[in-house]
Amino acid sequence: MIESNLAALADAAKGRIAAATTPAELETIRVEFLGRKGGALASIDMKSVPADQKAAVGKMLNTAKQAIEALLDARTSDFASAAQAARLESEWLDLTVPPTGPRRGSLHPLTQIQNEIEDLFVSLGFTVLDGPEVESDEHNFDALNIPPDHPARDMQDTFWLDGGWLLRTHTSPVQVRGMRKLGPPLRMIAPGRVFRNEEVDASHEHTFYQLEGMMVDKNVSVANLLYFMKTLLSAIFKRDVTVRLRPGYFPFVEPGFELDIQCLICNGAGCPVCKQSGWVELLPCGLVHPNVLRRSNIDPEEWGGFAFGLGLTRLVMMRYAIDDIRQLQGGDLRFLRQF
Ligand code: PHE
Repeated sequence: MIESNLAALADAAKGRIAAATTPAELETIRVEFLGRKGGALASIDMKSVPADQKAAVGKMLNTAKQAIEALLDARTSDFASAAQAARLESEWLDLTVPPTGPRRGSLHPLTQIQNEIEDLFVSLGFTVLDGPEVESDEHNFDALNIPPDHPARDMQDTFWLDGGWLLRTHTSPVQVRGMRKLGPPLRMIAPGRVFRNEEVDASHEHTFYQLEGMMVDKNVSVANLLYFMKTLLSAIFKRDVTVRLRPGYFPFVEPGFELDIQCLICNGAGCPVCKQSGWVELLPCGLVHPNVLRRSNIDPEEWGGFAFGLGLTRLVMMRYAIDDIRQLQGGDLRFLRQF
C-alpha cells in the first residue's frame, strides 16, 4: 500500500520537476514534496506501519526522497547553466573592434580659406585688421568717394539701420579705418562678413564674406597690384586657373579692374553659379583713388596704393565646387563634415 503510494508520489514529482520553468517553481516543488512540515513524504504516517516493516518502509522513503532530491538538483543546475550561458551571450564583447571615440569638429571651409590667406599676407608683411559690421555711412560710402547722390550707391543694395547707420556692404570701410589709424606706409588685409539687401538664389546671399586688401606706399603701380594678385591666386588654387582682367568701375579706385576666373564648377561651359557666362568675378581691384587717400589724411602727391576686395565666399565655392551658396550658411552637418 505505502509502496505504491510512494511510487505514485515519485512519479508525480518527476513530472512536475520536468515541467518546471523557473528555479522558484523548483523550490515550490521541493517544499511540496520534501518539506519537513506538510511535505508529501513527511505526511506518510509511520505510526500506522507495523513494527516489523518500519525498517523496510523507512528505507523506501529514503530512496524516494533521494531520487526526488537528485532530480531537483539536476534541474537546478540546468537552470544555472542556462542562466550563465545567457549572461555570457549578453555580455559578449569583441575586443578587436577599433574604438570610435567622439567625432571631432572641423573648421568651416570659409574659416580654413581665410586662415590660409591671412598666413600668406602676414608672410608678405601685411597686418590683419578687423572692422565693425554695423558701419557709418561715412566709412562705407563717403570716405570711399561715394557721396550721397552718387549712382554707385545703387550698385550695392544696402540694409539701412536707424540713425543713418547701415550693415556694411563691403569690407572696404576697413581701408578707411586702417589708413586713419595706421597711416602710410600701410599693408593691411581685412576679412569679414558683409551684407546686401539682395534676392537670395544659388549665387547670391544677403550675407557673405570678403577679404579686403590694401597697400599704400611710394611708387605703387599696377605692376605691384598684379604681382600680389598672381601670388594670391596661385597660393589659393595650387593649380593653373584661367583668369581674365577687364576694366571695372568702383569709385574708390582708378584705374579699376575686375579679375575674373573661369568658373571651376562648369569649367567655363555655363552654370547657375557663373550665371551661364563661364566666368566668375572673384577679385575686383585697382589703384586707390586720390580722393580716398585725401579723405583719410594721406597726401596723394606723396603716396599711392592698390586695393582689392576678394570674394571669400565665391572663392570657397570655386575651390570646392559648391554649386549653391546657401549651403555655406545652412548649418547642415552632413555638408560641413566633408571639410
Ligand atoms: N568693395 C568692392 C565691392 O564690393 C570691391 C573692391 C574692393 C573693388 C577694393 C576695388 C577695390 O564690391
